[in-house]
Amino acid sequence: MKTILITGGAGFIGSHVVRRFVKNYSECHIVNLDLLTYAGNLENLKDIDKLPNYTFVKGDIADTEFVGKLFDTYHFEGVVHLAAESHVDRSITDPASFIRTNIFGTFNLIHAAKEQWKGAMEGKRFYHISTDEVYGSLGETGLFTEITSYDPKSPYSASKASSDHLVRAYYNTFHLPVLISNCSNNYGPNQFPEKLIPLCIHNLQHLKPIPVYGKGENIRDWLYVEDHASAIDLIYHKGVIGETYNIGGNNEWTNIALIRALCDEVDRQLGRAQGSSQQLITFVKDRAGHDLRYAIDSTKIQNELGWKPSLQFEEGLAKTVEWYLQNSDWLENVSSGAYEKYYDQQYIQR
Ligand code: NAD
Ligand code: DAU
Repeated sequence: MKTILITGGAGFIGSHVVRRFVKNYSECHIVNLDLLTYAGNLENLKDIDKLPNYTFVKGDIADTEFVGKLFDTYHFEGVVHLAAESHVDRSITDPASFIRTNIFGTFNLIHAAKEQWKGAMEGKRFYHISTDEVYGSLGETGLFTEITSYDPKSPYSASKASSDHLVRAYYNTFHLPVLISNCSNNYGPNQFPEKLIPLCIHNLQHLKPIPVYGKGENIRDWLYVEDHASAIDLIYHKGVIGETYNIGGNNEWTNIALIRALCDEVDRQLGRAQGSSQQLITFVKDRAGHDLRYAIDSTKIQNELGWKPSLQFEEGLAKTVEWYLQNSDWLENVSSGAYEKYYDQQYIQR
Protein backbone atom coordinates (compact mmCIF):
# COMPACT_ATOMS: atom_id res chain seq x y z
CA MET A 1 0.00 0.00 0.00
CA LYS A 2 1.37 3.43 -0.94
CA THR A 3 1.54 5.91 1.93
CA ILE A 4 0.96 9.62 1.31
CA LEU A 5 1.76 12.28 3.91
CA ILE A 6 -0.63 15.23 4.10
CA THR A 7 0.53 18.00 6.45
CA GLY A 8 -1.88 20.48 8.04
CA GLY A 9 -4.80 18.10 7.47
CA ALA A 10 -6.68 19.26 10.58
CA GLY A 11 -6.91 22.81 9.25
CA PHE A 12 -9.41 24.38 6.87
CA ILE A 13 -8.19 23.35 3.40
CA GLY A 14 -6.18 20.37 4.65
CA SER A 15 -9.27 18.69 6.14
CA HIS A 16 -11.07 18.86 2.78
CA VAL A 17 -7.97 17.46 1.05
CA VAL A 18 -7.54 14.63 3.58
CA ARG A 19 -11.21 13.65 3.29
CA ARG A 20 -10.99 13.61 -0.51
CA PHE A 21 -7.81 11.50 -0.59
CA VAL A 22 -8.99 9.03 2.12
CA LYS A 23 -12.33 8.49 0.36
CA ASN A 24 -11.17 8.51 -3.27
CA TYR A 25 -7.95 6.51 -2.85
CA SER A 26 -8.82 3.64 -0.51
CA GLU A 27 -5.78 1.78 -1.92
CA CYS A 28 -3.53 4.47 -0.35
CA HIS A 29 -2.70 4.96 3.31
CA ILE A 30 -3.12 8.65 4.19
CA VAL A 31 -1.08 9.96 7.13
CA ASN A 32 -2.25 13.36 8.39
CA LEU A 33 0.50 15.21 10.27
CA ASP A 34 -0.72 18.24 12.20
CA LEU A 35 0.45 20.09 15.30
CA LEU A 36 -3.15 21.04 16.22
CA THR A 37 -2.39 24.70 16.69
CA TYR A 38 -5.37 27.00 17.35
CA ALA A 39 -6.23 26.52 13.64
CA GLY A 40 -6.18 22.70 13.67
CA ASN A 41 -9.28 20.82 14.74
CA LEU A 42 -9.81 17.05 14.55
CA GLU A 43 -13.57 17.66 14.67
CA ASN A 44 -13.17 18.62 11.01
CA LEU A 45 -12.42 14.98 10.19
CA LYS A 46 -14.63 13.03 12.56
CA ASP A 47 -16.61 11.51 9.67
CA ILE A 48 -13.53 9.72 8.29
CA ASP A 49 -11.23 9.20 11.27
CA LYS A 50 -12.14 5.51 11.72
CA LEU A 51 -11.50 4.56 8.10
CA PRO A 52 -8.76 1.90 7.79
CA ASN A 53 -6.59 3.85 5.35
CA TYR A 54 -6.34 6.93 7.61
CA THR A 55 -3.85 7.72 10.40
CA PHE A 56 -3.49 10.93 12.36
CA VAL A 57 -0.09 11.90 13.81
CA LYS A 58 0.30 14.92 16.07
CA GLY A 59 3.64 16.64 15.50
CA ASP A 60 5.54 19.74 14.52
CA ILE A 61 6.98 20.12 10.99
CA ALA A 62 9.60 22.46 12.49
CA ASP A 63 10.97 19.61 14.68
CA THR A 64 13.78 18.19 12.52
CA GLU A 65 14.32 14.98 14.47
CA PHE A 66 10.61 14.20 14.61
CA VAL A 67 10.17 14.77 10.85
CA GLY A 68 13.17 12.54 10.03
CA LYS A 69 11.78 9.72 12.21
CA LEU A 70 8.32 10.06 10.65
CA PHE A 71 9.81 9.56 7.15
CA ASP A 72 11.79 6.55 8.43
CA THR A 73 8.64 5.02 9.91
CA TYR A 74 6.27 5.44 6.96
CA HIS A 75 8.46 5.53 3.80
CA PHE A 76 6.12 8.01 2.10
CA GLU A 77 5.57 7.78 -1.66
CA GLY A 78 4.38 11.35 -1.73
CA VAL A 79 3.80 14.48 0.31
CA VAL A 80 1.04 17.08 0.05
CA HIS A 81 2.25 19.94 2.24
CA LEU A 82 -0.37 22.35 3.57
CA ALA A 83 0.73 22.92 7.19
CA ALA A 84 1.40 26.60 7.76
CA GLU A 85 0.66 29.64 9.79
CA SER A 86 -1.90 31.17 7.45
CA HIS A 87 -3.39 34.39 8.80
CA VAL A 88 -1.92 37.68 7.51
CA ASP A 89 -2.99 39.73 10.58
CA ARG A 90 -1.24 37.30 12.93
CA SER A 91 1.90 37.54 10.80
CA ILE A 92 1.94 41.26 11.53
CA THR A 93 1.77 40.78 15.32
CA ASP A 94 3.80 37.51 15.55
CA PRO A 95 6.03 37.03 12.49
CA ALA A 96 8.43 34.61 14.23
CA SER A 97 6.00 31.68 14.21
CA PHE A 98 5.51 32.19 10.44
CA ILE A 99 9.26 32.03 9.81
CA ARG A 100 9.57 28.92 11.97
CA THR A 101 6.67 26.93 10.54
CA ASN A 102 6.42 28.16 6.96
CA ILE A 103 10.12 28.39 6.13
CA PHE A 104 11.96 26.09 8.53
CA GLY A 105 9.11 23.56 8.65
CA THR A 106 9.01 23.34 4.84
CA PHE A 107 12.78 22.98 4.75
CA ASN A 108 12.59 20.04 7.20
CA LEU A 109 10.03 18.27 5.03
CA ILE A 110 11.82 18.71 1.69
CA HIS A 111 15.13 17.78 3.26
CA ALA A 112 13.69 14.62 4.85
CA ALA A 113 12.08 13.71 1.51
CA LYS A 114 15.36 14.21 -0.33
CA GLU A 115 17.25 12.04 2.19
CA GLN A 116 14.61 9.31 2.09
CA TRP A 117 14.17 9.28 -1.70
CA LYS A 118 17.89 9.57 -2.55
CA GLY A 119 18.61 7.44 -5.64
CA ALA A 120 14.95 6.40 -5.93
CA MET A 121 13.01 9.50 -6.94
CA GLU A 122 10.93 7.65 -9.60
CA GLY A 123 7.20 7.88 -8.83
CA LYS A 124 7.72 10.13 -5.81
CA ARG A 125 6.15 13.60 -5.50
CA PHE A 126 6.56 16.48 -3.09
CA TYR A 127 3.63 18.84 -3.59
CA HIS A 128 3.86 22.23 -1.86
CA ILE A 129 0.63 24.23 -1.45
CA SER A 130 1.17 27.96 -1.73
CA THR A 131 -0.74 31.18 -2.15
CA ASP A 132 -1.30 33.93 -4.71
CA GLU A 133 -0.08 36.41 -2.06
CA VAL A 134 3.54 35.63 -3.04
CA TYR A 135 2.98 37.73 -6.20
CA GLY A 136 2.22 40.86 -4.18
CA SER A 137 -0.55 43.26 -5.07
CA LEU A 138 -2.17 44.06 -8.44
CA GLY A 139 -3.41 47.46 -9.55
CA GLU A 140 -6.83 47.81 -11.10
CA THR A 141 -6.01 45.57 -14.07
CA GLY A 142 -3.99 42.44 -14.85
CA LEU A 143 -3.88 38.91 -13.48
CA PHE A 144 -1.22 36.81 -11.71
CA THR A 145 0.20 34.13 -14.00
CA GLU A 146 2.73 31.41 -13.17
CA ILE A 147 5.54 33.67 -14.41
CA THR A 148 4.58 36.80 -12.48
CA SER A 149 7.58 37.91 -10.40
CA TYR A 150 7.38 37.36 -6.68
CA ASP A 151 6.81 40.54 -4.66
CA PRO A 152 5.45 39.53 -1.23
CA LYS A 153 4.36 42.32 1.05
CA SER A 154 3.45 40.76 4.43
CA PRO A 155 5.50 38.53 6.75
CA TYR A 156 3.01 35.75 5.87
CA SER A 157 3.43 36.09 2.11
CA ALA A 158 7.20 36.57 2.45
CA SER A 159 7.43 33.33 4.44
CA LYS A 160 5.36 31.49 1.82
CA ALA A 161 7.47 32.98 -1.01
CA SER A 162 10.59 31.84 0.79
CA SER A 163 9.26 28.30 1.14
CA ASP A 164 8.32 28.24 -2.59
CA HIS A 165 11.90 29.26 -3.46
CA LEU A 166 13.31 26.51 -1.23
CA VAL A 167 11.10 23.89 -2.86
CA ARG A 168 12.20 25.04 -6.37
CA ALA A 169 15.83 25.05 -5.22
CA TYR A 170 15.50 21.38 -4.17
CA TYR A 171 14.09 20.58 -7.63
CA ASN A 172 16.90 22.38 -9.45
CA THR A 173 19.74 21.27 -7.20
CA PHE A 174 18.76 17.77 -6.06
CA HIS A 175 16.12 16.81 -8.68
CA LEU A 176 13.54 16.40 -5.93
CA PRO A 177 10.26 15.72 -7.82
CA VAL A 178 8.28 18.77 -6.75
CA LEU A 179 5.00 20.44 -7.67
CA ILE A 180 3.77 23.85 -6.49
CA SER A 181 0.40 25.54 -6.71
CA ASN A 182 -0.56 29.10 -5.80
CA CYS A 183 -4.21 29.59 -5.00
CA SER A 184 -6.50 32.55 -4.37
CA ASN A 185 -8.74 33.08 -1.30
CA ASN A 186 -10.68 29.98 -0.25
CA TYR A 187 -14.05 29.96 1.46
CA GLY A 188 -16.39 27.24 2.71
CA PRO A 189 -17.03 25.02 5.75
CA ASN A 190 -14.47 24.60 8.56
CA GLN A 191 -12.58 27.87 8.09
CA PHE A 192 -11.34 29.39 11.33
CA PRO A 193 -13.41 32.52 12.18
CA GLU A 194 -10.42 34.87 12.15
CA LYS A 195 -10.78 34.93 8.33
CA LEU A 196 -13.20 37.38 6.70
CA ILE A 197 -16.15 35.19 5.68
CA PRO A 198 -16.59 33.00 8.82
CA LEU A 199 -15.81 36.02 11.02
CA CYS A 200 -18.63 37.99 9.37
CA ILE A 201 -21.10 35.10 9.60
CA HIS A 202 -20.24 34.57 13.27
CA ASN A 203 -20.63 38.27 14.08
CA LEU A 204 -23.83 38.61 12.05
CA GLN A 205 -25.32 35.67 13.92
CA HIS A 206 -24.56 37.40 17.23
CA LEU A 207 -25.51 40.91 16.00
CA LYS A 208 -21.92 42.08 16.52
CA PRO A 209 -20.19 44.75 14.34
CA ILE A 210 -18.68 43.60 11.02
CA PRO A 211 -15.14 45.08 10.89
CA VAL A 212 -14.29 46.28 7.37
CA TYR A 213 -10.64 47.28 6.97
CA GLY A 214 -10.10 50.72 5.39
CA LYS A 215 -12.80 51.55 2.85
CA GLY A 216 -13.51 47.93 1.94
CA GLU A 217 -12.19 48.54 -1.58
CA ASN A 218 -9.58 45.75 -1.55
CA ILE A 219 -10.31 42.96 -4.00
CA ARG A 220 -9.96 39.21 -3.56
CA ASP A 221 -10.65 36.30 -5.96
CA TRP A 222 -12.75 33.74 -4.05
CA LEU A 223 -12.77 29.97 -4.64
CA TYR A 224 -14.89 27.32 -2.89
CA VAL A 225 -12.61 25.12 -0.79
CA GLU A 226 -13.74 21.84 -2.37
CA ASP A 227 -12.76 23.24 -5.77
CA HIS A 228 -9.28 23.91 -4.38
CA ALA A 229 -9.21 20.33 -3.05
CA SER A 230 -10.19 18.97 -6.49
CA ALA A 231 -7.38 21.01 -8.08
CA ILE A 232 -4.89 19.68 -5.51
CA ASP A 233 -6.01 16.10 -6.25
CA LEU A 234 -5.54 16.68 -10.00
CA ILE A 235 -2.15 18.35 -9.67
CA TYR A 236 -0.87 15.67 -7.28
CA HIS A 237 -1.87 12.87 -9.67
CA LYS A 238 -1.48 14.48 -13.11
CA GLY A 239 0.72 17.56 -12.68
CA VAL A 240 4.08 17.74 -14.46
CA ILE A 241 7.04 17.51 -12.07
CA GLY A 242 8.82 20.83 -11.60
CA GLU A 243 5.78 22.84 -12.72
CA THR A 244 3.75 25.51 -10.93
CA TYR A 245 -0.02 25.86 -11.33
CA ASN A 246 -2.12 28.91 -10.42
CA ILE A 247 -5.59 28.13 -9.07
CA GLY A 248 -8.36 30.74 -8.84
CA GLY A 249 -12.07 31.27 -9.04
CA ASN A 250 -12.15 34.02 -11.70
CA ASN A 251 -14.41 35.60 -9.12
CA GLU A 252 -13.28 39.04 -7.94
CA TRP A 253 -15.15 40.91 -5.24
CA THR A 254 -14.40 44.09 -3.33
CA ASN A 255 -14.60 43.31 0.38
CA ILE A 256 -17.50 45.69 0.87
CA ALA A 257 -19.56 44.15 -1.94
CA LEU A 258 -18.83 40.67 -0.60
CA ILE A 259 -19.82 41.70 2.94
CA ARG A 260 -23.07 43.24 1.70
CA ALA A 261 -23.89 40.03 -0.19
CA LEU A 262 -23.12 38.01 2.97
CA CYS A 263 -25.37 40.25 5.08
CA ASP A 264 -28.24 39.72 2.62
CA GLU A 265 -27.70 35.95 2.56
CA VAL A 266 -27.66 35.75 6.38
CA ASP A 267 -30.83 37.89 6.52
CA ARG A 268 -32.48 35.56 4.01
CA GLN A 269 -31.50 32.37 5.82
CA LEU A 270 -32.36 33.68 9.29
CA GLY A 271 -35.63 35.26 8.14
CA ARG A 272 -34.47 38.75 9.18
CA ALA A 273 -35.71 41.87 7.38
CA GLN A 274 -33.64 42.35 4.20
CA GLY A 275 -30.98 45.02 4.76
CA SER A 276 -31.06 44.81 8.57
CA SER A 277 -27.64 43.09 8.89
CA GLN A 278 -25.98 45.78 6.75
CA GLN A 279 -26.42 48.14 9.69
CA LEU A 280 -23.72 46.13 11.49
CA ILE A 281 -21.06 47.11 8.90
CA THR A 282 -18.34 49.12 10.68
CA PHE A 283 -15.31 50.65 8.96
CA VAL A 284 -12.15 50.13 11.04
CA LYS A 285 -8.45 50.93 10.78
CA ASP A 286 -6.84 49.36 7.70
CA ARG A 287 -4.50 46.35 7.82
CA ALA A 288 -0.83 47.45 7.67
CA GLY A 289 0.56 46.95 4.14
CA HIS A 290 -2.88 45.80 2.93
CA ASP A 291 -2.57 44.37 -0.60
CA LEU A 292 -5.08 46.09 -2.89
CA ARG A 293 -6.04 43.35 -5.32
CA TYR A 294 -5.38 39.67 -6.04
CA ALA A 295 -6.65 37.99 -9.21
CA ILE A 296 -5.52 34.71 -10.71
CA ASP A 297 -5.17 33.58 -14.29
CA SER A 298 -5.86 29.83 -14.04
CA THR A 299 -5.66 29.14 -17.79
CA LYS A 300 -2.74 26.70 -17.36
CA ILE A 301 -4.47 24.26 -14.99
CA GLN A 302 -7.70 24.58 -16.98
CA ASN A 303 -6.06 23.87 -20.35
CA GLU A 304 -3.37 21.38 -19.32
CA LEU A 305 -5.17 19.41 -16.59
CA GLY A 306 -8.84 20.08 -17.43
CA TRP A 307 -9.71 21.60 -14.02
CA LYS A 308 -12.47 24.10 -13.52
CA PRO A 309 -14.37 25.40 -10.49
CA SER A 310 -17.66 23.54 -9.96
CA LEU A 311 -19.64 26.20 -8.11
CA GLN A 312 -20.92 29.67 -8.93
CA PHE A 313 -20.11 32.10 -6.10
CA GLU A 314 -23.76 32.81 -5.16
CA GLU A 315 -24.36 29.07 -4.70
CA GLY A 316 -21.09 28.59 -2.78
CA LEU A 317 -21.84 31.53 -0.49
CA ALA A 318 -25.36 30.24 0.25
CA LYS A 319 -23.95 26.76 1.04
CA THR A 320 -21.28 28.31 3.26
CA VAL A 321 -23.70 30.50 5.24
CA GLU A 322 -25.98 27.48 5.66
CA TRP A 323 -23.11 25.33 6.94
CA TYR A 324 -22.01 27.87 9.58
CA LEU A 325 -25.58 28.54 10.72
CA GLN A 326 -26.25 24.81 11.02
CA ASN A 327 -22.91 24.15 12.74
CA SER A 328 -22.94 26.93 15.29
CA ASP A 329 -21.55 24.42 17.86
CA TRP A 330 -18.43 24.08 15.68
CA LEU A 331 -18.10 27.88 15.53
CA GLU A 332 -18.60 28.30 19.27
CA ASN A 333 -16.10 25.51 20.07
CA VAL A 334 -13.32 27.01 17.99
CA SER A 335 -14.06 30.50 19.29
CA SER A 336 -12.43 29.50 22.57
CA GLY A 337 -11.04 31.78 25.27
CA ALA A 338 -7.74 32.11 23.38
CA TYR A 339 -9.56 33.21 20.24
CA GLU A 340 -11.68 35.71 22.16
CA LYS A 341 -8.45 37.21 23.55
CA TYR A 342 -6.93 37.43 20.03
CA TYR A 343 -10.14 39.05 18.77
CA ASP A 344 -10.19 41.68 21.49
CA GLN A 345 -6.52 42.55 20.88
CA GLN A 346 -6.89 42.61 17.09
CA TYR A 347 -9.93 44.87 16.93
CA ILE A 348 -9.62 47.07 20.01
CA GLN A 349 -6.90 49.33 18.57
CA ARG A 350 -9.09 50.64 15.77
P1 NAD B 1 -5.21 26.79 8.45
O1 NAD B 1 -4.56 27.84 9.28
O2 NAD B 1 -6.69 26.63 8.52
O3 NAD B 1 -4.58 25.37 8.78
C1 NAD B 1 -3.20 25.17 8.96
C2 NAD B 1 -3.00 23.82 9.62
O4 NAD B 1 -1.58 23.63 9.80
C3 NAD B 1 -3.64 23.71 11.01
O5 NAD B 1 -4.33 22.50 11.15
C4 NAD B 1 -2.45 23.77 11.96
O6 NAD B 1 -2.65 23.05 13.17
C5 NAD B 1 -1.35 23.15 11.10
N1 NAD B 1 -0.01 23.57 11.54
C6 NAD B 1 0.40 24.85 11.80
N2 NAD B 1 1.69 24.86 12.21
C7 NAD B 1 2.10 23.56 12.19
C8 NAD B 1 3.34 22.92 12.48
N3 NAD B 1 4.40 23.63 12.90
N4 NAD B 1 3.43 21.59 12.32
C9 NAD B 1 2.36 20.86 11.89
N5 NAD B 1 1.15 21.41 11.63
C10 NAD B 1 1.03 22.75 11.76
O7 NAD B 1 -4.74 27.08 6.96
P2 NAD B 1 -5.51 26.90 5.58
O8 NAD B 1 -6.26 28.15 5.29
O9 NAD B 1 -6.20 25.60 5.54
O10 NAD B 1 -4.26 26.89 4.58
C11 NAD B 1 -3.59 25.66 4.28
C12 NAD B 1 -2.47 25.94 3.31
O11 NAD B 1 -2.99 26.51 2.12
C13 NAD B 1 -1.43 26.93 3.83
O12 NAD B 1 -0.16 26.50 3.40
C14 NAD B 1 -1.81 28.25 3.17
O13 NAD B 1 -0.67 29.08 3.00
C15 NAD B 1 -2.35 27.76 1.85
N6 NAD B 1 -3.37 28.62 1.21
C16 NAD B 1 -4.46 29.04 1.92
C17 NAD B 1 -5.46 29.79 1.27
C18 NAD B 1 -6.70 30.26 2.00
O14 NAD B 1 -7.48 31.03 1.44
N7 NAD B 1 -6.97 29.82 3.20
C19 NAD B 1 -5.29 30.14 -0.07
C20 NAD B 1 -4.13 29.71 -0.75
C21 NAD B 1 -3.18 28.94 -0.10
O1 DAU C 1 -5.07 34.92 -1.25
C1 DAU C 1 -4.85 33.75 -0.53
C2 DAU C 1 -4.79 34.06 0.94
O2 DAU C 1 -6.13 34.37 1.36
C3 DAU C 1 -4.23 32.92 1.78
O3 DAU C 1 -2.90 32.68 1.42
C4 DAU C 1 -4.33 33.24 3.27
O4 DAU C 1 -3.89 32.12 4.03
C5 DAU C 1 -5.76 33.55 3.61
O5 DAU C 1 -5.87 33.93 4.97
C6 DAU C 1 -6.29 34.67 2.72
O6 DAU C 1 -5.63 35.94 3.03
P1 DAU C 1 -6.44 37.33 3.12
O7 DAU C 1 -5.68 38.25 3.94
O8 DAU C 1 -6.85 37.77 1.75
O9 DAU C 1 -7.77 36.78 3.87
P2 DAU C 1 -8.64 37.40 5.07
O10 DAU C 1 -9.86 36.55 5.19
O11 DAU C 1 -7.83 37.65 6.30
O12 DAU C 1 -9.07 38.84 4.51
C7 DAU C 1 -9.78 38.95 3.28
C8 DAU C 1 -9.94 40.44 2.99
O13 DAU C 1 -10.83 41.01 3.97
C9 DAU C 1 -8.65 41.23 3.12
O14 DAU C 1 -8.63 42.25 2.13
C10 DAU C 1 -8.71 41.84 4.51
C11 DAU C 1 -10.19 42.05 4.72
N1 DAU C 1 -10.66 41.92 6.13
C12 DAU C 1 -10.29 40.82 6.83
C13 DAU C 1 -10.69 40.65 8.13
C14 DAU C 1 -10.26 39.42 8.92
C15 DAU C 1 -11.49 42.89 6.67
O15 DAU C 1 -11.87 43.87 6.01
N2 DAU C 1 -11.91 42.70 7.96
C16 DAU C 1 -11.52 41.64 8.73
O16 DAU C 1 -11.93 41.57 9.91
